[in-house]
Order: sequence, then C-alpha cells, then structure tokens
Amino acid sequence: MTEYATADVLVLGSGIAGCAAALAAAREGQRVLVATKAERPADASTDWAQGGIATTRDSPESLKRDILTAGDGEADPDAVDALVEDAAAAVEDVLVDTLDVSFDGDGDGFDYAQEAAHSEPRILHVDAATGRHLLRPFLRHLDDHDHVRMLEDTAALDLITDEGRVTGALLDRDPETGERAATGAPVFAGSTVLATGGIGDLYRRSTNPGGSTGDGLAMAALAGADVEDAEYVQFHPTAYDDEDPFLVSEAVRGEGAVLRNADGERFMPDYHEDAELAPRDVVARAVAAERDATGEVRLDVSPLDFAGEFPGLAETCEDRGVDWEAGIPVAPCEHFLCGGVAVDTEGRTSLDALYAVGECARTGVHGANRLASTSLLEGLVWGLRAGEAAAGDGWTPDPGDPPELRDRDPDLPAGFADEKFRRLRRVMDEHVGLHRSGDDLRRAQGVLRRLKGEVDSYVRTRTSRDLYELRNAAVVGLLVSRAAAENPESAGCHHRTDDAAPEGTPDAGH
Ligand code: SIN
Repeated sequence: MTEYATADVLVLGSGIAGCAAALAAAREGQRVLVATKAERPADASTDWAQGGIATTRDSPESLKRDILTAGDGEADPDAVDALVEDAAAAVEDVLVDTLDVSFDGDGDGFDYAQEAAHSEPRILHVDAATGRHLLRPFLRHLDDHDHVRMLEDTAALDLITDEGRVTGALLDRDPETGERAATGAPVFAGSTVLATGGIGDLYRRSTNPGGSTGDGLAMAALAGADVEDAEYVQFHPTAYDDEDPFLVSEAVRGEGAVLRNADGERFMPDYHEDAELAPRDVVARAVAAERDATGEVRLDVSPLDFAGEFPGLAETCEDRGVDWEAGIPVAPCEHFLCGGVAVDTEGRTSLDALYAVGECARTGVHGANRLASTSLLEGLVWGLRAGEAAAGDGWTPDPGDPPELRDRDPDLPAGFADEKFRRLRRVMDEHVGLHRSGDDLRRAQGVLRRLKGEVDSYVRTRTSRDLYELRNAAVVGLLVSRAAAENPESAGCHHRTDDAAPEGTPDAGH
C-alpha cells in the first residue's frame, strides 16, 4: 500500500451534489478525487429521484414563498434566497448546456409538471425518472474531465483532522493500487466535501438506495462539526405498501391521482384544503391515519392516463405484480432528512476545510419539511457553490499523521451487523417515525446508546465497512432522536404527539 494519496479537493459521494462540487472545483483547475462507496457511481440516491427539478420559471418570488410555506416557519429565508437566485443559471449552465439533458417538452418549450404544495406547474422532468437522466450524463462528463478521478466501491471510514481543520479522509480502498485497505488508506486534501446522501437505512422502509447510512453526517459529527434540524426526517406519503417499497412520485398526484381509503372514500379534502396537493408531511400523516383506521390506502390513478404519462412507473407496477388499474396500495415511508451538517450558503461547515452538500447538509432551505422536487436543485446549487468555494480557499493538501485504525481481530460474529441493524430500525420505526413523544424518544435514546456502545467496542479493533456503516447509523439515530427529544414543538415532519396542539385528525391543519 502507498503511504498516502493527495487531492486538492476530495469529494465523498457521487450524486448530483457531489458531481456538481467536483465539476465546479475542476473548472477552477483543482485536482479532484471523488470517492463513492457505490459499486457503480450511478447507484446514488439521485438516480432514484423521480419527480424532477423545481425551477423559478418567471416567478422566483413564488417559488420562494412555496418553499418557505412548506418549511412550516423553520426554513432560513437567506438560504432560500440563495437557492432561488442561482436556480435558473445552474439549470441552464450545467444541465442544459453542459450535460445536454433533454427535459420533457415539445418544440415550444418545456412540459412543466405540477407537484404538491407548488402554486404553479414548474417542475422540469424526464418521464418520472429525472434523477437518472441527469446523473448518468453528469458522471460521463466527469469521467472525461482531466482534473477528476472517480473511485468506486470506496467508502470513507473517518475524517482526518488536524487542530480543528479537516485534512482529508481515511478510505477503505487504496486509491493508487485499488486494493482494500484493512487499516484505512489516508487521502490528504486541501478541502473535503461531504455529499454522502441520506439516512434511509435507519428505517425498515425507505425510498433511498441501500447503503444510505448517514455516513457523512456521522463522520462530521464525530469530528466535531455542528449538526442542525436532525429531527426533521421526511416521510413520503405514497410509497408502494410493501416490505420492499418503491416511490410513487408526487407528480402522479400532481396530474390528478387521488387517495382513497379501504372504504373507497377520498379522504384528503377532509384533512387539508389543498387535498392531495397539501404539503408532504400533512399527506403522509393522513395516509397513515386512514390506513390504520380502515386497513388500506390506495392511490387511484384512474383520473389520468397513467401508463401514457408515467410509463416507467406503470412498468415498475407491472414488474412487481401491482394492478395499478385497481389503485396502487400506498403507505408513508422514510424519504429525506431535511437537517444535517450545518452549512452556510457556500456549503462551509463549522470545521475548517470541510464542506457538506446535498442531503447530508442542513442548508436551511427545507426547514421542517422539504418542498417536492427541491432536492436535486439544492444539490446542484450548493454543490456548485461549495466546489467553487473549496477551490477558492486555495489550501494545499497537508499530509500529517493519519489516525491509526486497528484491524487485528477475527471476523465479526456471524450476523452481528444484521442483528444490530434490525434492532436499530425497529427502534427508529417505533419511536422516531411519523409520530414522536417524549417517552418514545427517551426509550429510543436508551436503546441507541446501548447499541452504539456495543458497536464501539468492535470499532476499536476492527475496520470492516459494515461495522463503520453500523457505527454511522447508530450515531445518526442518536442525533435524530436527541434533536427530536429537545424540540417539544411539532413543525412540518416533526410531529410530537405530546405537543399542546394535537394533530392527526381531519381539519387539524399541520
Ligand atoms: C417524488 O417524485 O415524489 C419525489 C420527489 C422529491 O422528493 O422531491
């Protein structure tokens, strides 16, 4: 194994936010190393994003208003301004001009879609598989870029710090030889950008790809970075109701699909004046309540030409044996973490030379509840801003002493990680889900603290990737449950059942 590798900018993660950071830094002449633990860089959450990318069209103010309203009073108006200010130029420059993405539309212009809680149709999309159509050309573009190197199947185990400054990361594969690095391969970098995605693996059912264990958030927190708004875990209202769910995009409701309970009744008008197009957290809780009360909720797609407008989703239904003509059985499932590593409008964290972008970052845009189709936009805008800022910092990689990891124990006991993950998911589902109470959250923290203690005792002597993922998931579970416990007030997707203002019944507003 080589002693260490260097890069001007090290990016961890290969979704739209990581790609945008890599592109912006490379455009400034930086040597960029992108490491992703996915076996194929395209296996990022971005690839799974269906709805699309929100734009400002002719009215930036109206997009800003919708984002702030969805955020339920908790979004940061300066961050929303930054997003809205850069949106059109970022989409035009990167997606249209550089990557040549063909958004749906005809010769006369784009076919802007309508989604929940948007006051006008403004979503650019490609069928309902928008993420895939952005990410693949993005990765090809970076692959051809002289200044960018991509390492796949390579996880970061820990950040390297030196007197409060992040100087790189320990990877589990040597960048030079490509071999597994049992005790961690140090990469020293002038700046490090976290773009590691979400936390879906903390819950039994999620719309995220496997491996979404909150790695960047956990590593940053362990290194001492500030974390904010971790209690705001968003649950998508319409995932296929199964142990192995798939997302049924908001866009389907945007085109007229309606939700019906087991008695065939359309219930959303009783919960919110915008009915199926109410904010996501409202729809998610209503679906859960009706499913509990009547046994089932289906998305009735008969008001639209489902197969014509959403051919990819219709095919997925058919592949999974779902008769969509009878309505698609749906239930809420974990979708997106609105909080994360606290960053400014350039993606800077509280630690020198560490940036965070995409779902692992808390930019302040989403507040307590993310508006549909703003995640790709946020990833793109903050990725570009952070990549440019990291390049502008002009730090040169500063090789120091990497932390020593030990790998001297025999294999983990058989089934160790699986059993601990099952325990972790059970506690997150039962106590840190759609509804939370102080008692729930105390119980969750107790279990998670014990679990983390058990995992830590192995981390002291072993460095397998699954063990580090488990450690990261336990750290993030604690961050989420602690933040939820410390916030007694319901807002957006953080719904306290012991809040003074009860909710969950028709007409109860948020
Ligand atoms: C969806 O298509 O419903 C998901 C899009 C998003 O999460 O913004």
